[in-house]
Amino acid sequence: MRHLTKILGFLLITPLVHLPAAAQNGEQLFKQTCSACHQMGRRLVGPDLTGVTERRTKEWIHAFVKSSQTVIKSGDADAVALSTEFNGMIMPDQSLSAGDVDQIIAYFQTFSATAPAGTTEVAATAEVPVEYTDADRETGQALFVGRTRFANRGAACISCHNVTNDQVMLGGGFAKDLTGVFGRMGNAGVAGILGAPPFPAMATTYANSPLTEVEIHSLVAFLENADKVSAQQAPKSAYMPFMVYGGGGLIALLALIGLHWRGRMKKGVKHDIYDRQLRSI
Ligand code: HEC
Ligand code: HEC
Repeated sequence: MRHLTKILGFLLITPLVHLPAAAQNGEQLFKQTCSACHQMGRRLVGPDLTGVTERRTKEWIHAFVKSSQTVIKSGDADAVALSTEFNGMIMPDQSLSAGDVDQIIAYFQTFSATAPAGTTEVAATAEVPVEYTDADRETGQALFVGRTRFANRGAACISCHNVTNDQVMLGGGFAKDLTGVFGRMGNAGVAGILGAPPFPAMATTYANSPLTEVEIHSLVAFLENADKVSAQQAPKSAYMPFMVYGGGGLIALLALIGLHWRGRMKKGVKHDIYDRQLRSI
């Protein structure tokens, strides 16, 4: 299936772009697996990767994409510096083959060659500050806690995440606390993650029920405010977490199991045999 998608993508782009084959495939892979956090020409959740093939060796990029934490923990000076610069934000391990990474590197190379840092079209478009209204913040909060359902019926964020906010009950401990996430990632970063979640558990949850543009805007508005007012919020009781963590984890687990089993037969094969047996008696 994955190969089919790759081949289809390849056929679609081939007539349009005059890049070497590997680079075209690499561009596809990059858009699918990396672009929630990286863009060429500007910093997003992760660094701008323009010219990365000039500052790092191929081996380094391979190792880092396979397991960034291993490279950081090995004490590699460049990796440690990056990790510090990005506040210890963890780049999730990517389950790509070495061949896939080679193709992404080929894409990086053509990009650097054809568009040196600072002269790209992307860099030229200045970031437009996003305006949030009170209505956006309220809609976002209602969506976050599940008071309003998502148009495509995805799970409420609170089943996995907590935000420390007096307006909001304690959330799940399955995934990171999002109270200060806006401060760390900014609008483009958070919106990027919500548009194409790069984390397996979250990606599975929203794969068939993506968030809409408006929902993403509202959620980011809520998280921006949650970050701004976080200092004035009362910490929640130390008692509650266990109950809610358990509940949130259970809901998340059930949702994942539901997704996983959706395509299965409702009745087992044995049931048919059993019925036939009964009739033949
Ligand atoms: C969830 C966000 C996220 C995703 C998804 C992600 N990265 Fe990263 N990446 C980061 C962060 C953050 C850093 C900075 C280093 C750190 O904090 O670990 C980084 C650093 C890098 C670097 C080092 C950059 C430099 O200047 O040396 C490379 C190369 C890289 N990423 C490639 C990729 C590739 C290729 C993919 C897709 C297969 C990918 N990343 C997916 C967040 C991400
Ligand atoms: C099924 C559980 C689940 C649901 C539901 C979920 N997420 Fe996540 N989310 C995760 C996981 C797992 C991560 C990876 C980081 C971690 O392990 O905590 C993550 C990461 C994130 C991050 C990056 C955090 C960081 O600091 O790196 C943001 C932002 C985020 N989620 C926002 C949301 C929002 C907004 C919603 C609701 C639309 C949502 N998530 C729903 C599981 C979930």
